[in-house]
Amino acid sequence: MPELRIRTYPDPILREKCLPVEEIDDRVRDLAAGMAEAMHRAPGVGLAAPQVGESIRLIVVDLSVGQDPAQLHVLVNPEVEVLDGEQFESEEGCLSLPEVLEKVQRFKRVRVRALNLKGKEIVLDAQDRLGRVLQHEIEHLDGKLILDHLNRVKRELVKRRLKKRAKMTPVPPSPASR
Ligand code: NI
Repeated sequence: MPELRIRTYPDPILREKCLPVEEIDDRVRDLAAGMAEAMHRAPGVGLAAPQVGESIRLIVVDLSVGQDPAQLHVLVNPEVEVLDGEQFESEEGCLSLPEVLEKVQRFKRVRVRALNLKGKEIVLDAQDRLGRVLQHEIEHLDGKLILDHLNRVKRELVKRRLKKRAKMTPVPPSPASR
């Protein structure tokens, strides 16, 4: 599979509601492998399928950024449940929002249910940074970005900056296969 290009704001695919994965086939497995590779290359700790131009419910998360295979989570159709309503604030970035680092409130503890690439149901209880990254990536699947967590004034400021940046950065052509 050719290297996947990470889409950046204001690419409209980032705002779409993604469809559930109906069947975990080779196409989905190849996409997940390509996403993990793109995330590690970026480098980043999480990536959602719409960020590489595929509007389906698939995310990859790896806090070790490729250093520890046991920390790579590939989650199909993930759903998040809040285990602790308390929130905590921390700075977050996003590979689709270059140079943006903003404080975002997230729930302290969450439970994520998903399928792995073998179609097996998995349950992941996560807190702190892992919980935060999971909440961030799963929001991507509903077209939500960290911009939406900012107050209106801040949001408009960051959007303007990103649009200006996008105009100055030529977009490489998409691979012919998609
Ligand atoms: Ni993101």
